Amino acid sequence: MTSSLNTLYEVLYVSVLAPGAPVSAVAEIAGHARAANAQRGITGLLVFDGNGFCQQLEGTQKNVLSAMERISQDARHVQISVVHHGPLTARRFSDFSLAFSPAEDADTLAALALLDGEAALQAFHALRASVLL
Ligand SMILES: Cc1cc2nc3c(=O)[nH]c(=O)nc-3n(C[C@H](O)[C@H](O)[C@H](O)COP(=O)(O)O)c2cc1C
Repeated sequence: MTSSLNTLYEVLYVSVLAPGAPVSAVAEIAGHARAANAQRGITGLLVFDGNGFCQQLEGTQKNVLSAMERISQDARHVQISVVHHGPLTARRFSDFSLAFSPAEDADTLAALALLDGEAALQAFHALRASVLL
């Protein structure tokens, strides 16, 4: 059990900025996340397109699942939908980054919300390639 909780794990979800939440919340979220994730050995990518989020988190299963639990209770976003979670053989990212996706690509996140598993991962790879890191 202990060893499985220490294996590398990832979660990929999409969500929408809560109605009334200012876009400036994103900078606060990212600032906090950068420090908190570094402390917990979590790396990944948070993409924001002006309305919605897509976030991939990777680290030990224990740390990733507890981060996801906290994040899913955050009132600054709604319609949280986990589209993929599972073990990972190697990290996809070497640190935690925030990226902005052009607003005209807003459909990309909505489309991702409807996918799961391998298809969701593929859409995430395409999104990652389209944003500037
Ligand atoms: C879209 C979104 C992404 C977030 N990503 C992270 C994250 O990667 N790491 C993190 O620690 N908190 C993240 N947060 C913030 C958490 O929801 C929560 O506010 C924070 O972990 C609380 O930390 P504290 O209990 O130390 O105050 C995110 C919040 C939102 C709305």
